[in-house]
Amino acid sequence: MNRLYHALQLKRLHQLKQIGFRYVPLVEKKTAPAATLPDDLKALEQIVSQCQLCALSKTRTKTVFGEGNPHAALMFVGEGPGAQEDMTGRPFVGRAGELLTKMIENVLEIPRSEVYIANIVKCRPPNNRVPTPEEAYTCLPYLQKQMELVAPRIVVALGATAYHYLTGDKSGITKVRGEVIDMGVYRLVPTYHPSYLLRNPSAKKEVYQDLLKIKGML
Ligand code: URA
Repeated sequence: MNRLYHALQLKRLHQLKQIGFRYVPLVEKKTAPAATLPDDLKALEQIVSQCQLCALSKTRTKTVFGEGNPHAALMFVGEGPGAQEDMTGRPFVGRAGELLTKMIENVLEIPRSEVYIANIVKCRPPNNRVPTPEEAYTCLPYLQKQMELVAPRIVVALGATAYHYLTGDKSGITKVRGEVIDMGVYRLVPTYHPSYLLRNPSAKKEVYQDLLKIKGML
């Protein structure tokens, strides 16, 4: 690469930064490579349903693999299953899920079944605590493989945990929400988690803005 090329690349990066893109280092690989997992969502789901790689497997009722259009352009990533999800094996079916469904169907104006929804961890953390780094990194290859197979153009990180494990960046969600982050094969938009919105309804207006931005990108 010559100096002119470097200078042009820097200029381009500067322009991207000015219109809202942020640079985020790729997540350090601390887990088994996703490449060893099957290239088929059904086969992957079967493996996840029998997973015993971390302590969450001991307390779960059902694994919550994820659901939606296997070729979705838009994917939502949450933190981990709650009580209802643990009982049913489906992501975002409790109160937070009802709100997420409204966000998708009423604001983005697409049926929930057209997007793909998954979580950082596939088993419920007891008392809905935040998954530990060990639990999250152990489970992450499943999500990475899911993302590789679904190949969405846009991924919405719902809350700080999803943002942190998708990017490796420890910034708070308040700081980064609404940004569009170029992750190479997809663009990541962090926003507040629906559970946070249930506790802080005044933050809904910011999420509404983020959703309008996503709608424009679709
Ligand atoms: N919260 C999450 O992060 N994921 C779910 O599936 C449900 C609630």
